[in-house]
Amino acid sequence: MKISFDPIDYILINESTIQSRVTELAHQISNDYKETGNLMLIGILKGAFILMADLTRKLNIAHVVDFMAVSSYGDSSISSGAVRIMLDLRKPILGQHILIVEDIVDTGNTLNYLYNTLSGRKPASIKTCSLLRKKRNNHQINIDYLGFDIPDVWVVGYGLDYADQFRTLPYVAVLKKSHYTK
Ligand code: PRP
Repeated sequence: MKISFDPIDYILINESTIQSRVTELAHQISNDYKETGNLMLIGILKGAFILMADLTRKLNIAHVVDFMAVSSYGDSSISSGAVRIMLDLRKPILGQHILIVEDIVDTGNTLNYLYNTLSGRKPASIKTCSLLRKKRNNHQINIDYLGFDIPDVWVVGYGLDYADQFRTLPYVAVLKKSHYTK
């Protein structure tokens, strides 16, 4: 398949920087959960699938994985704030240590909703992990394991998309403004 890379403006975070940070996060998580056991990482589709694959393969403690998908703002840069579960977990999480894994926290609506919803299912604990965070995190939701703070630009790659493209780029790149502003 031929994909035009024209919409890319510049690389914000290169591949080796991402991999180093993911390794650090995996060490931190492995250390924090080594005594607790019973760890389940929940990747939020689609964006988190790359981080989930890299992060979980760098963990050196026992763990299981599952995925959820929620509706968000799709191809538009405008978030309505409404979040809805499109794909739920396969099993109850009662008594499990949960780590929610996201590619990016923007307004914080999605992570805030997931945190509250999953808390209601009585897990042993819930923590959060995100590769990226933008400044406008309306809910001030805590991210326990954060890769990088980034400016308010449209980023693609390492799971993040523009119209569902560019998710498998190994780096995080900034989209040209002309592609998402009128
Ligand atoms: C993105 C990202 C988060 C959410 C963050 O998902 O993966 O789930 O938006 O935005 P928020 O903090 O403003 O709620 P998106 O809806 O783009 O779906 P995708 O992961 O399938 O690309």
